[in-house]
Amino acid sequence: MGHSMPLLHSISEVRAAIRQARLAGRTVGLVPTMGALHEGHLSLLAAARERGDFLVVSIFVNPTQFSPREDFTTYPRTLEADVEACRAAGGDLVFAPSVEEMYPAGFCTTVRVQGLTEGLCGRFRPGHFDGVTTVVCKLLDIVQPDRAYFGLKDYQQFVVLRRMVLDLDLPVEMVPCPTVREADGLAMSSRNRHLTPEQRRVAPRLHQALQAGSEVLRQGGTGEQAIAAVQEFLSKEPEFRVQYIEAVNPETLEPRLQTGRPVVLAVAAYLGETRLIDNLRVD
Ligand code: PAJ
Repeated sequence: MGHSMPLLHSISEVRAAIRQARLAGRTVGLVPTMGALHEGHLSLLAAARERGDFLVVSIFVNPTQFSPREDFTTYPRTLEADVEACRAAGGDLVFAPSVEEMYPAGFCTTVRVQGLTEGLCGRFRPGHFDGVTTVVCKLLDIVQPDRAYFGLKDYQQFVVLRRMVLDLDLPVEMVPCPTVREADGLAMSSRNRHLTPEQRRVAPRLHQALQAGSEVLRQGGTGEQAIAAVQEFLSKEPEFRVQYIEAVNPETLEPRLQTGRPVVLAVAAYLGETRLIDNLRVD
């Protein structure tokens, strides 16, 4: 029961539907996702609903943000359940384009944000943020929302996209939303469903490690000491293969190893084949 909600696959259909919503006097909100929706995604939908926006959810597993060695083919795809979740959450339209719709033959344009994309995840995922900025730029142009909603779980992604919107004068308000966690602290992620029961058991340690690091900062310790505390905490769980632990300036993403506030503590680590990221801000 409940209202029906269009699932659209073409850019022209989406533009037509949004034109109608605009004519009806609605403001428009966009929540870009790669699907396999969970409570983290749904919190973005709820934030858009709160503002009364005509709520557009895009579901597109964007191939250009995965490197050849990454998990594009095994990334979870659950479109039917996702559409139902969007409907239940009060979405007005789901846009689920094909790869050919977004990247027709001959496509050769890239939107690149420099500098901010070089550290943290960018150092280990070359080209990743170019894929993210290019696809989000296209989505913002297709939907032309008043507001777009993003999770702070992907902290660097938000900072990079906010910069892109500023630099390209895109007329959209970028709304950051807090990280939604499982009861045990694990940041929700579509990739969590790949964890084995044993990996799922140790996964919350990532968040606990960040809490140990933030405690060091709160006691007046330096970024470097906080990183060491996170490192030490994680070394007790040999299943983690840590990629990076960093303390950065939340605006510039530059390392903040000595004193100075605020700080974002950010970590990336593998459990088996599954890459997990998390971060915590200390003011
Ligand atoms: P995806 O990983 O599906 O995430 C979609 C949005 O949900 C992002 O803004 C992300 O930060 C947010 N999100 C994910 N987990 C969250 C959590 N636990 N709490 C709060 N928000 C959370 O991020 C992407 O897709 C893609 O890179 C995309 C921006 C769609 C471009 O392809």
